[in-house]
Amino acid sequence: MIVRAPFFGGNWKMNHGPTEARRFVESFAELHRTAEDRTVVFFPPALSLAEFREAASGRPDLLLGVQDIYWEKQGAFTGAVSAPLAKDAGAQFVLAGHSERRHVFGDSDEDVARKVGAIAGEGLVPVLCVGELLDERERGEADAVVRRQMEIGLSELDREAIASAIVAYEPVWAIGTGRTARSEDASAVHRLAREILSGLVGNAAARSIPIIYGGSVKPNNIEDLLSAEEVDGVLVGGASLDPEAFAQICGAGSGSGQH
Ligand code: PGA
Repeated sequence: MIVRAPFFGGNWKMNHGPTEARRFVESFAELHRTAEDRTVVFFPPALSLAEFREAASGRPDLLLGVQDIYWEKQGAFTGAVSAPLAKDAGAQFVLAGHSERRHVFGDSDEDVARKVGAIAGEGLVPVLCVGELLDERERGEADAVVRRQMEIGLSELDREAIASAIVAYEPVWAIGTGRTARSEDASAVHRLAREILSGLVGNAAARSIPIIYGGSVKPNNIEDLLSAEEVDGVLVGGASLDPEAFAQICGAGSGSGQH
């Protein structure tokens, strides 16, 4: 599928069940008009996908993803969701390696690689999340962490599949903390990510892979982040739960702002 930049992802995490999801869609659809020059994707809890889809049936521009999958296709894996199940429910995107999966649930780089492989294998777009912890940044290891997470995370994909993926740089110290990376710090890591991608798929293909930023993105810092060099979009947690805040974010960079 063609993913247009800027990309705006709303990661609801463990919030907004079906009832709240419907309410959200009804308000958001009023506030955010369809715009051809951007991609808007929601990552609700898997349980809310059907209700979201139904509530947004008149809005094919509001795309859906899930927050995580297990790499097996089906079977006795209590509590897990697979890529084919996500696809059947209407998801086109899947997050892999989100910092909460890595640091709360213990997903290793190799687990993330298997998940990315399973997502791409189903024809869905993997959004590979990478990012360093605060002490890793303070020790000067941010680049090495991002390189390792990207190289292992993408290791099960061939060049063509890598070219269809999305990379999300989310410094862990900026997630849910109200602390955002300065746009020049984000740009520096995004440049590194682009270089790593160039090494994997060549310059031309690497240029078209969206590299998005996440970590306390809000209406008041979106313009600054979006205009930063090499930042092709954002992944938003907290501020995506509020239709007004997220509509404001999704209207950024269009010149006309919110509709
Ligand atoms: P936040 O979350 O916007 O609440 O910091 C971002 C994310 O985890 O994707």
